[in-house]
Amino acid sequence: APLQTLINLNDFEEVAQRHLPDTTWAYYSSGADDEISKHNNARSYSKISLRPRILRRVLSVNTATTILGFPTSLPVYISAVGIAKLAHPDGECALAAAAGKEGLAQLLANGSSFPIERVMKSRTSPTQPIFQQLYVNKDIEKSVEVVRRAEQAGAGAIWITVDSPVVGKREMDERLNLSISASDSHEQGQGVAKIMASFISPFIDWDILTWIRGITDLPLVVKGIQSVEDAVIAHSHGVRGIVLSNHGGRSQDTAQSPLLTLLEIRKFAPQLIDSDMQIFVDGGIRRGTDVLKAIALGADAVGLGRPFLYSLSAGYGEKGVLRMIALLRQEIEANMVLLGVSSLDELRPEMVNASRLEKH
Ligand code: FNR
Repeated sequence: APLQTLINLNDFEEVAQRHLPDTTWAYYSSGADDEISKHNNARSYSKISLRPRILRRVLSVNTATTILGFPTSLPVYISAVGIAKLAHPDGECALAAAAGKEGLAQLLANGSSFPIERVMKSRTSPTQPIFQQLYVNKDIEKSVEVVRRAEQAGAGAIWITVDSPVVGKREMDERLNLSISASDSHEQGQGVAKIMASFISPFIDWDILTWIRGITDLPLVVKGIQSVEDAVIAHSHGVRGIVLSNHGGRSQDTAQSPLLTLLEIRKFAPQLIDSDMQIFVDGGIRRGTDVLKAIALGADAVGLGRPFLYSLSAGYGEKGVLRMIALLRQEIEANMVLLGVSSLDELRPEMVNASRLEKH
């Protein structure tokens, strides 16, 4: 399909499903078990309605913000998505190039299909932010090496993912009996879900944050917070950010939507919302209004995963990603005008009605 015929993020998903090999589609799209969390993530946004303000003379909108101190043009970043090469030969490098042109930050997966040194070369400027996602390896020396290489390559932060001590049961993936071989080389596809996750240590606890702090001065973010209690603990460890995430519904099925966790933080630990620790949210975000709802409720920025893989697919590569970001940007801008706000900090919780989500 010609790119200009795709007019929203769901269109990219449809095209990707048609074009990707079955095995890749299964790996990218699947959630755990019955995929209840995966679908709920998206549904939680439609359960929230907006209360637009009128007659506020919004002449232009400013969508810029900062993530861990790095300027970004939208409150949106590219989340860690393993093996982008299966979508397009340029994989994570095409994502980095598009992110540079559009002014976005990118989180590079621990199991990315290109080494970080190569991805860094695709940046459009030396200050373009790329962060390193880390799964703590059973062989801790391997994790030390990931951190060292990230530092040397110029990564802006380490995001440690903590929601997958074992890999979720992705049944579509299992049924297709994926046979892409595991390999230590970053240049090759590293095998899928189970193979990829077999190195992740299930034996870590909160002390891991002290350990990482001991080996690097890079800012730390904890990805995969799913309760108010853990958000409070993370804050007490002095991390720079947390990601409310259920791994796109790929880890524990029926884990609640991250948007609901954000609501619970507002209610039970409101001191975290305006603290020094940034709060990010990911999972199921597909519309400009989804982004604005999360920001209005106190998120600093949101992550998208699958849409970046889908827009790389079908031979589109970087061009597809640029189009996808442009569409999301247009939706965000138009909906800010409709809401009556000219900058992100004017988005207030009163502008959303979350009672249907809270009741659930
Ligand atoms: C992921 N995600 C992920 N997260 C992470 O911390 N490390 C990783 O290696 C991966 N790999 C990965 C692969 C694929 C194919 C997907 C779809 C997702 C999770 C990702 O960062 C993010 O949390 C979710 O994808 C967000 O949900 P949406 O936007 O995909 O609905």
